[in-house]
This record gives sequence, structure tokens and C-alpha cells, in this order.
Amino acid sequence: MAHRLIHTLVAVSLSAALLAGCAQTPAKPQASLYDRLGGKEAITAVVDALSANVAADARINQRFANANIKRFKAQMVDLLCEASGGPCKYKGMDMKTAHTGMKISEVEFMAVAENASKTLDSFKVPAAEKAEVMNLLASMRDDIVNR
Ligand code: HEM
Repeated sequence: MAHRLIHTLVAVSLSAALLAGCAQTPAKPQASLYDRLGGKEAITAVVDALSANVAADARINQRFANANIKRFKAQMVDLLCEASGGPCKYKGMDMKTAHTGMKISEVEFMAVAENASKTLDSFKVPAAEKAEVMNLLASMRDDIVNR
């Protein structure tokens, strides 16, 4: 009798485990942020538009008066491409080195972030992906501000 009961218990727990296994069939892994944004072409278009917005923003455009914009844009594309899980390799300076000595203020950083937000909206980047990009930028804040 005890033997039978154990058999039944083993059978029941085995089928429970099998069923659980099916229920837990993993969902398709989420595509990288890079792919969800639309890849390098989309990122390049966003960086172009962001640069135009920054150039039109009197709060910060003087900062870029002597910048090599073409090079800057290419670096920005590689940085965002790599950081979002894309196949690029950013070869520029790390954010701390790139901005040290500039004494960029919190207000200036927020101005760039605001331009980024506006730009992503203009491309109708969905809220989830926009939040991920904005979080990426925010994660760089401490390496950029007051250096
Ligand atoms: C999250 C925000 C930011 C990101 C991701 C970012 C990214 C970059 C990158 C990738 C470079 C090029 C580094 C290299 O050439 O090796 C750079 C340079 C530079 N950044 Fe930023 N930056 C940010 C915020 C800011 C802010 C707020 C300012 C000023 C308002 C600023 C001003 C500059 C300037 C003036 C350069 C030098 C450009 C040149 O002469 O080529 N950045 N930044």
C-alpha cells in the first residue's frame, strides 16, 4: 500500500514537473535595444536630428562652436550603437575623458537630455525604448557633469 502511494506520488510529481516545464517554455528573448530602435540607420538619423536640435539651442550651442561635428556625430552613433547592444565598437574617448575640463553644468546636461527627448519623440520612438535610451544617457551623467 505504502509502495503504491509512493508510486502515485512520484508519478504525480513527475507529470507536474513536465507540465511546469511546458508552462515555463521561455518566451522569445527580447530583441536588443539596438534592433528595436531600428539599427544603425535609425540611430544615425536620430543623432543627425539631435545634433541639429543642439545646434539650434542657444543654451548649449556655443559649447560645440569649435567641434568637428562630422566626427562627433560618428562617435555618438558608435557609442549609442554599442551601448544599445549593436555590432559597433566605440573607439572614442570614454565619457569622463571626453568632457573633463569643460565644466559642463547640470543645466547644460539637462538641456542636451531635453533635446534627446524631443528628438526621440519626433521619431515616434515608443515609450519603452525611449526610456531605455534616456536611462543610458542618464547613466553617463556623472562622468560628464562638473568635470
Ligand atoms: C549623455 C550626454 C552626452 C553624451 C552621450 C556625449 C557624448 C560625447 C561623445 C561621444 C563625444 C566625442 C568623444 C570623442 O571624440 O572621443 C563628446 C564630445 C563632446 N561633448 Fe559630449 N556628450 C554628452 C553630453 C554633453 C554635454 C551636456 C555637453 C555640453 C553642453 C557636451 C559637449 C561636448 C563637447 C564640446 C565635445 C567635444 C566635441 C569635439 O570637439 O569634437 N557633451 N561627447
